[in-house]
Amino acid sequence: MAFQIGLLGLGTVGTGTAKILLDVAGRHPLLQELSIARVGVRSPDKPRSVDVSPVLLTTDLTAIATDPAIDIVVELIGGLEPARSLILQAIAHGKHIVTANKAVISRYGDEIFTAANKAGVYVLLEASVGGGIPVIQPLKQALGVNRISAVTGIVNGTTNYILTRMQREGGDFEAILADAQRLGYAEADPAADVDGLDAADKIAILASLAFGGRIERAEIYCEGIRQVSAADIDYAKTLGFAIKLLAIAVVSLKPL
Ligand SMILES: NC(=O)c1ccc[n+]([C@@H]2O[C@H](COP(=O)([O-])OP(=O)(O)OC[C@H]3O[C@@H](n4cnc5c(N)ncnc54)[C@H](OP(=O)(O)O)[C@@H]3O)[C@@H](O)[C@H]2O)c1
Repeated sequence: MAFQIGLLGLGTVGTGTAKILLDVAGRHPLLQELSIARVGVRSPDKPRSVDVSPVLLTTDLTAIATDPAIDIVVELIGGLEPARSLILQAIAHGKHIVTANKAVISRYGDEIFTAANKAGVYVLLEASVGGGIPVIQPLKQALGVNRISAVTGIVNGTTNYILTRMQREGGDFEAILADAQRLGYAEADPAADVDGLDAADKIAILASLAFGGRIERAEIYCEGIRQVSAADIDYAKTLGFAIKLLAIAVVSLKPL
């Protein structure tokens, strides 16, 4: 019998996910059938670039999270609320969760994983950090035989795009940000990316996994790239460096 999936969100990631779920051609035979049961959105009349039947769309996301016919809830609405509450409701109703929501996991991961352990369901979050790499599952698999003492990476594509262009073209931050927004590489409100908040969410998740403890998101020092000028890029180049936004987590070796 097919797994019934309740999709919360049909935006950039939700649309891509729905396209994959609807495309059964070439799907590995070992995978059971996957079926989209319901799709939760804010504006059901919005034109969509994926062929999801309009009868599946609803604005009642709670009805999806609590629907007894649904096995897996895929949360792709983003933000903190109602995402957190919907995930917890779905877990309480025995559903497995898949989420791309780094903001909610970095702040409420502890609460969500505790609830999931109690309910005996999975919470899978590969798409929340470096989904294209991928990094979460390999990190989990490496934990048994490795002692990880540091995690460092370029984890934000938007700032990497902007800094790479500043490096190559010598342009100013504001002009290249505006161009990135025009091309769809940066959001209309770029704060989460350019102020380092997205990278901080991601390193909170990676560090919590790698070091096996709860890393408080609020305690992560965060600095973005707004203040990086063309002159900074030039100086760095002259010294043989490139400026990048790095997410860094290190286990302190000094006794407390
Ligand atoms: N975009 C990326 O490249 C990317 C990459 C990795 C992870 N993520 C993560 O994936 C998640 C989704 O991102 P996205 O870029 O796909 O967002 P998005 O394009 O803004 O889509 C959000 C979707 O959720 C629906 N939605 C939002 N709030 C809702 C509410 N209160 N009630 C009902 N529906 C609601 C929207 O409905 P309408 O369509 O009706 O407006 C829309 O379909 C976020 O957690 C983000 O951090 C994104």
